[in-house]
Amino acid sequence: MAAQPETIQSTPFGTVFTREMAICRFVDGAWTPCEIVPTAPISLHPGAHVLHYASACFEGLKAYRWADGSVRVFRPDRHIERMQASTGLLCLPAPPAELLWAMIEQAIDACREEIPTTPGSLYIRPTLIGTDTNIGAAGTGSDNACLYVLMSPVGDYFQGGARALRILIEDQHMRTAADFGSVKAGANYAAALHHVVSARHVHDADQVLFCPGGDVQETGASNFMLLDDKQILTKPLNDAFLHGVTRDSLLQLAIDLGYRVVERDFTVAELLDWVRLGEAALSGTAAVLAGVGTFIHEGKELAVRNGTIGPNTERLRKALTDIQTGVAEDRHGWLRSV
Ligand code: COI
Repeated sequence: MAAQPETIQSTPFGTVFTREMAICRFVDGAWTPCEIVPTAPISLHPGAHVLHYASACFEGLKAYRWADGSVRVFRPDRHIERMQASTGLLCLPAPPAELLWAMIEQAIDACREEIPTTPGSLYIRPTLIGTDTNIGAAGTGSDNACLYVLMSPVGDYFQGGARALRILIEDQHMRTAADFGSVKAGANYAAALHHVVSARHVHDADQVLFCPGGDVQETGASNFMLLDDKQILTKPLNDAFLHGVTRDSLLQLAIDLGYRVVERDFTVAELLDWVRLGEAALSGTAAVLAGVGTFIHEGKELAVRNGTIGPNTERLRKALTDIQTGVAEDRHGWLRSV
């Protein structure tokens, strides 16, 4: 039986898991065959490289159950490529694309009936960790690794459903190190964490938008864009922030819908001016496209438009989710059947 959206929506994102997952290891220079195992604790030596030197990267992609019961995965090729790129900077063995795709396919196949119907989806979390047992290896990559594909039936990422977000503008610090931002590494989320936790406690903010020196970059867990009736404005890709697959997809759909897509640097001053009439939103696999209702900057609150999610944000989000759920044609060939 497919998990029901109402059950999924009432549990925090990422806290429910499918019964089984896929796992394999890189040992003595070779990948072991993929196994389907119960989603349960895995055994790690306390001296494992990942536990000391954070040799870990992951991906986040989604599978959707269509109305006819069939299942599609959204842009797995891009996620697999990004995971392979992440391994480079973390000095971890890169899983071959065929292996990772086979693991995703087998994991989904094992748990097909647990995929929720829309608006729920299956969040897929391939995870790669360094398992060398060596606490002196601060300057050496892990030769051995464990790769697993964990899966979680999910609803909305932000608790409270499709509501306008409160975002704190942090205009001094970066989310993470300048040359590491494009890597999907747990360490990058750890670097942002204390800012996000403090913003929640002090300002009841949902997230922090990192804008070092006034340069608008991304939030702790999603990319960022400005929208109005004619344009989408977002930062051009560089090593400082994550190259979102959702970001890329939304920009393509915006072009299809006739928006002008502008990728250039912009400042906090420009953002604050834009949102007097325009819209702002966070994009990511988990967030999809989540509208901002309030910015908090220098102790003051600023409503984006009237504090509600704007029509362009709604329109673009729907254009994407309609494709993902089979309501609209997949003109770009983004979905893969499983
Ligand atoms: C994603 O959007 O896939 C992410 O990895 C963000 C995470 C905080 C859930």
